[in-house]
Amino acid sequence: MSIRSTDVLIIGSGAAGLALALRLAPWCTVTVVCKADLDEGSTRYAQGGISAVLDAADSIEAHIDDTLIAGAGLCDPEAVRFTATHGPAAIGWLSEIGVAFTRQSGEPAAGSPYHLTREGGHSHRRVVHAADATGKAVSDALRDACRAHPRIELLERHMAVDLITRTGGQRGARSCRGAQLLDLDAAVMQTWHARSVALATGGASRVYLYTSNPEVATGDGIAMAWRAGCRVANLEFMQFHPTCLYLPAQGSRVFLISEAVRGEGGRLLLPDGTAFMAGFDARADLAPRDIVARAIDHEMKRLGIPCVYLDIRHRGAEFIRTHFPTIHAQCLAVGLDMTEQPLPVVPAAHYTCGGVVTDLRGRTDLQNLYAIGETAHTGLHGANRMASNSLLECLVFAESAANDILDRLPHLPRPGDSDLPSPSHPIRETGESITIRHNWMELRRAMWDYVGIVRNTERLQRAQRHVAVIRGEAEAQWANSPTIDPDLLELRNLATVAELIVRCALTRTESRGLHYTLDHPHPAPEALDSVLVPPNLPLPLHAMHWAD
Ligand code: FAD
Ligand code: SIN
Repeated sequence: MSIRSTDVLIIGSGAAGLALALRLAPWCTVTVVCKADLDEGSTRYAQGGISAVLDAADSIEAHIDDTLIAGAGLCDPEAVRFTATHGPAAIGWLSEIGVAFTRQSGEPAAGSPYHLTREGGHSHRRVVHAADATGKAVSDALRDACRAHPRIELLERHMAVDLITRTGGQRGARSCRGAQLLDLDAAVMQTWHARSVALATGGASRVYLYTSNPEVATGDGIAMAWRAGCRVANLEFMQFHPTCLYLPAQGSRVFLISEAVRGEGGRLLLPDGTAFMAGFDARADLAPRDIVARAIDHEMKRLGIPCVYLDIRHRGAEFIRTHFPTIHAQCLAVGLDMTEQPLPVVPAAHYTCGGVVTDLRGRTDLQNLYAIGETAHTGLHGANRMASNSLLECLVFAESAANDILDRLPHLPRPGDSDLPSPSHPIRETGESITIRHNWMELRRAMWDYVGIVRNTERLQRAQRHVAVIRGEAEAQWANSPTIDPDLLELRNLATVAELIVRCALTRTESRGLHYTLDHPHPAPEALDSVLVPPNLPLPLHAMHWAD
């Protein structure tokens, strides 16, 4: 049996989790756990960059307006203003901890020492980047700073299984007191007590067959929060990135071709060389992502073609190699030279716009539980996230959650109450690995086929039935097995999130942003969030009105 304690337990080591750890560490002890290697998460693979107003010709108001437009009327204007306003300081902070953003060559543009690129939906050059490997630069700097900090404990291959909650205090308020973790190497369960817990577990795009996301993106934080009694919202808005490299023999993980390629002049073409985006939107190739992905889907279905093409040859080989060294090298490795030929591209699942409902401090419905980064639904993204607003959200909300945690910490009891559960299970394969593997694939295929870019009610209902069977089997396996299989844990979480996605999608009887359904092709007059309330959330809702 292993019982450990810390002031703040952070689950997830992406930009959100590590930024939160660094903000907290001067003042308290922090433990960061992650279920794979420290580096593994969507953050590391981010390409295009981070949006922030850094040019005197740009403005916070313009960043806000662009985000609101991309979000198709569903963003929370307060969350948008909060994020955009804190953007420049977030970039300054990253530079201080050592992120080497690409600088302007020659004279800096008005006010910005950095080269700023463009992406879909942005009316200005506003995306600061480290060539086309921004995520690696950010991830390396955050990791090195965390490793150097004596008060940050970093535990790799520790998978959070569930949150530990307790009911009590004012009005029967429920609070989070820690988490149960599975140490994947020692094969034992651990109980962690903490004064505050932060979910920074990233998104759930692995729920789809084809995705740009790494294997860890299985929606664990969303599922854990839901089971613990937190509301989730807007999960139907799963974002498909328009341009992932199409390789006929590829596996389920697809390589992203950054939107910055279109930002620097790349154009989408049909097989005969016709540029088609201007026929769909006045912003053509730089329209927001939902519009571009839908246009590609439309053309692929209309012409019966497996992909479209992205062409940036006209910028010249030197420009391409300088601005997109990673993408260029990756394509060369599979025999495609983007300096000489257009790249075959298709949309794939990329980003979870909805998530665990939070306020601007990252507070959830459960006292002492925070959610930040892609796991959270802050209201910033509305019905469609604007490119490069995600890393920004991770950084801005990590800081605001840290401030709130530090304000509250002196008033919270020390961790380590003996009346909390202390499970100790050995783990081994359940013997049902074939069923688990089969159900994984079936789930992801059903979501891909029935809950994709273009939806209808019949297909959503079909998905609901399939997902319910898979979820039922996963729950039964989970309940009946005396041992724990990490693959089963992930399947159970993915099936939970899939069910929530479909429920949100069926609730939305309109088309808006990323949710396009043939049965309701127009937006409703009023834009409303689809909020799901878990059965165990005490009513009346006292979300975020924590008893302090
Ligand atoms: P992640 O970075 O995904 O980290 C999740 C962490 O949670 C990992 O450490 C994982 O191990 C851990 N975890 C998950 N479940 C558990 C569990 N049960 N127990 C313990 N640990 C767990 N956004 C931009 O703004 N700009 C870009 O240019 C950009 N490019 C992108 C390119 C690609 C290919 C991808 C996939 C995404 C891109 N995004 C971009 C989106 C952005 O990278 C992510 O939204 C963001 O990095 C999410 O950060 P995060 O900290 O929330 O989660
Ligand atoms: C990209 O580089 O196209 C990804 C940017 C993002 O997802 O914000």
